Amino acid sequence: MKALVLAGGSGTRLRPITHTSAKQLVPVANKPVLFYGLESIAAAGIREVGIVVGDTHEEIEGAVGDGGSFGLEVTYLRQRAPLGLAHAVLIARDYLGDDDFVMYLGDNFVVGGIEPLVRRFHDERPAAQIMLTRVGDPRQFGVAELDAAGRVVGLEEKPQVPKSDLALVGVYLFTPEVHEAVSSLKPSWRGELEITDAIQWLLDSGRRVESTVISGYWKDTGNVTDMLEVNRLLLEELDQRLDGSVDDASEIIGRVVVEAGARVSRSRIVGPAIVGAGAVVRDSYIGPFTSVAEDCHVVDSEIEYSILLRRASIHGVRRIEASLIGRDVEVTPAPNTPRAHRLVLGDHSKVQISS
Ligand code: G1P
Repeated sequence: MKALVLAGGSGTRLRPITHTSAKQLVPVANKPVLFYGLESIAAAGIREVGIVVGDTHEEIEGAVGDGGSFGLEVTYLRQRAPLGLAHAVLIARDYLGDDDFVMYLGDNFVVGGIEPLVRRFHDERPAAQIMLTRVGDPRQFGVAELDAAGRVVGLEEKPQVPKSDLALVGVYLFTPEVHEAVSSLKPSWRGELEITDAIQWLLDSGRRVESTVISGYWKDTGNVTDMLEVNRLLLEELDQRLDGSVDDASEIIGRVVVEAGARVSRSRIVGPAIVGAGAVVRDSYIGPFTSVAEDCHVVDSEIEYSILLRRASIHGVRRIEASLIGRDVEVTPAPNTPRAHRLVLGDHSKVQISS
């Protein structure tokens, strides 16, 4: 069995963060979301992974390399334009050969991994096995209709009037039968070859499509609230580890990770929280559910329930909460005082904040 990981696409929903960074590399708990997918694939016993890349291929290849650090053998497959998920299967035809495969969308996050699903697929080998989850706004997803017995009877991509609240999760298992389906497709209204249509094609031609309803699922809906929530879930799993330096005037409470090379002085950190390698935290408070990436500076500031990307710096600002702050962002005080700031800042932003 192989895996096909999709890491193309432009990430319009997470702008401005994705103006300068691939959406699959946006970190949660200081690790790119794509890495969690690759780890679940490795944990399910799969070794050979084809990663479909687009315009951001250099960044993805730089981060994942040959896959060796995940215990994987990675092959990169270049998709010239984002023409749809089924198009990605089409261009991966030679790589996939006649193997079964799991297709994993690199911007999706499935709590608990995929090992049980892969096992079930091995045992039953339907033409397609899909995962479904209940969502608030199904119009942003592929949507499944089930009959009374729980069998999938129809699928629709981003319907205006959804027939259920069961969205397709971006992890699919296929036998090679899917290749016939994808080569029969016509582009959808959004000009893409839809994997949802390929699965509908399998249904229409009498093949078996199995589904499992899961909870604990997240995708980059552009909703920063969701990202902060996944960050929270992951930080909940932390154990305390203080590899960096923490001076005697600082107080560390609960499950806090301070990575090697980070320096914490005269500060209070209440976990769960993580401070990345090379980061500086001085005269500050870092509250629960905060991820501070590598080489960030938090000085004379207060921040909680937030994500700071690499090299962001916060100087003299209190208090930041529920915020996602991009790479190289600088947040500094300005005169006058509106209290409580909520920020979504793109990489390289420079913002002055009254504090
Ligand atoms: C794609 C699929 C959709 C699925 C979603 C899950 O949507 O087309 O059916 O529900 O992934 O992430 P897209 O990311 O292309 O909008």
